[in-house]
Amino acid sequence: MPAEQAVPLPDEADFEIGAALGVPALTAHRALTVAEDGTRRLQPGALDGKVVLAAGGAGAVGHAVIQLARWAGATVISTISSPAIARLATAAGSHHVINYRDGDPAT
Ligand SMILES: NC(=O)c1ccc[n+]([C@@H]2O[C@H](COP(=O)([O-])OP(=O)(O)OC[C@H]3O[C@@H](n4cnc5c(N)ncnc54)[C@H](OP(=O)(O)O)[C@@H]3O)[C@@H](O)[C@H]2O)c1
Repeated sequence: MPAEQAVPLPDEADFEIGAALGVPALTAHRALTVAEDGTRRLQPGALDGKVVLAAGGAGAVGHAVIQLARWAGATVISTISSPAIARLATAAGSHHVINYRDGDPAT
């Protein structure tokens, strides 16, 4: 990438964390801070009282959505497609999981 788009990692963050933060976590952060009536800054308590749906809770972006939303105080619901993926989403912090292959998750 162009050098001006690179950012230095803090001393306590290794390259594995840097790679994971890269685009997926920034995308998750954006998704959680774009709502008109929502917060622009995530921190503990920033999403208290909110319910967040993480579509694809075991995917790169969805997993980061779960972690950030839970940390910020939201109740988190994730869509998943199997028991193994449900375990990943739950381990990341999802309070509830919905198997999207069982029907329309919206209902
Ligand atoms: N990764 C990035 O940096 C990035 C940046 C900007 C935008 N995006 C966009 O964000 C979305 C997710 O990207 P990703 O990188 O997180 O992809 P990913 O790691 O491949 O994850 C995709 C997730 O979508 C789930 N999924 C597939 N079909 C579904 C369906 N019909 N209903 C509900 N969930 C379904 C999968 O769940 P199962 O495994 O359970 O089927 C999987 O967890 C994509 O649209 C991508 O273009 C990604």
